[in-house]
Amino acid sequence: IEPSNKYMFKHKGAYFVQDITTAEYIDSLEDFEIRDSDVFVATFPKSGTVWVQNILSLIYHEGHRDGTENIDLMDRVPWLEYNLRNVDYVNRPSPRLFATHLLHNLVPSDLRNRTGKVIYVARNPKDVVVSYFHFSNFIVKLETISDFNVFLEKFLAGKVVWSSWLDHIEGWFTHRDDFNILFLTFEEMKKDLRGAVLKICKFLGKQLTEKELDTVVENASFDNMKRDVRANYENIPETSLQEQGKGYFLRKGTIGDWKNTMTVAQSERFDSVFKGKIQELPFKFIWDI
Ligand code: A3P
Repeated sequence: IEPSNKYMFKHKGAYFVQDITTAEYIDSLEDFEIRDSDVFVATFPKSGTVWVQNILSLIYHEGHRDGTENIDLMDRVPWLEYNLRNVDYVNRPSPRLFATHLLHNLVPSDLRNRTGKVIYVARNPKDVVVSYFHFSNFIVKLETISDFNVFLEKFLAGKVVWSSWLDHIEGWFTHRDDFNILFLTFEEMKKDLRGAVLKICKFLGKQLTEKELDTVVENASFDNMKRDVRANYENIPETSLQEQGKGYFLRKGTIGDWKNTMTVAQSERFDSVFKGKIQELPFKFIWDI
């Protein structure tokens, strides 16, 4: 069950992808200056990060909404801890949009002192573990594990890159008062995308016209994102990142797909480790439809 050093390294109790970041860089983020206008989407991986990255980009960039600007999502809303495109974060004009998978205690201290805004997206963890399993098998930088049972045990033990799902969500939720934070679930976005976009706009103090709102919602649908080369990550030139044709960031985008991979025994095993703790959290996960 021990993670392989080839793919990940441990720093401050969390696991990170090898080669694309360093412990020193993670440490330097503590003092990374945050602006009031900064917006972060914070997630455990596979919880809807790309979806909310795209929504933020559509809300803030008219040129994205009307299709006049052809900029990849990864450049519009880069990952704080994995600066894959070497974006100049410090001199970037406001409002800066970021994504992060960091545990709450590893993000810049300004953010933990209520500067900037955070949207935390949570997803029912059975769908997360299944999505993550498929993801690991086409992302070159992640260890390929073909046996789902092996992956499940690693996930439950928090021995996967980005660490324990439970620690991630508990940490962010328990320390919510340290942040300007909005909690959303993948499932509520799925059930009512327009309502979720409105919630996001309200939180950000952004007022869109009905027509602009329609455009955001339309462009954030699964089918349209899947087709949008700026948003679906399929044209990432970093072929070292993903094995072409083996899988997609925009895979299925449904609620309850875990049932197609997990056996009843695996689901029960999952429940025996996680369910009690999950019930203590206020999130209304939907497990199937
Ligand atoms: P699946 O693998 O279950 O399909 P992340 O961006 O955090 O890595 O999460 C990826 C998951 O979000 C994938 O789940 C992906 O399909 C889903 N997703 C991305 N955009 C979506 C959208 N517009 N609607 C529904 N699901 C979406």
